[in-house]
Amino acid sequence: MKILMVCLGNICRSPLAEGILRSKLPDSFVVDSAGTISMHEGETPDKRAVKTAANHHIDISKQKSRPIQMTDFDQFDKIYCMDLKNLEDVISLTRTEEQRQKVHLFLEEAGNHQNSEVPDPYWGNLDDFEKVYQLLDRASNKISHQLQQQVITNKIR
Ligand code: 4NP
Repeated sequence: MKILMVCLGNICRSPLAEGILRSKLPDSFVVDSAGTISMHEGETPDKRAVKTAANHHIDISKQKSRPIQMTDFDQFDKIYCMDLKNLEDVISLTRTEEQRQKVHLFLEEAGNHQNSEVPDPYWGNLDDFEKVYQLLDRASNKISHQLQQQVITNKIR
């Protein structure tokens, strides 16, 4: 199963989400991330995101920002967006109902129906990154169970 995490710049939220979810899944799962804009393409994650992940023994320092591309809709099984604007932007790129069905709001899939957006910590401080980490960590616990269950009941390999 292949999972893609998406935020705006792919330097704060989705790199953290990628690192956290990967740490909770077996190696047979592929976890990647992308942004809806290409402004930070090629850059490693924001220093504060790298530091926050490292505080929890997760290394995201070698990730590189990239924009989402059309082939992602065929290559990935699940595309999880961090906020509603990301969701709208990603859905606007889909061309078929099958592609559309792969796109979800990450926290909503994890069961948060209120407060279903991961706040953007880019303009905040290290404490805001830690709050985002905690939000993503709790949601990733739920999603990792869900995904492993789906593989077992075998909807997706
Ligand atoms: P991200 O955060 O979408 O979580 O990676 C941001 C990164 C960059 C910018 C905004 C948010 N930016 O304006 O460059």
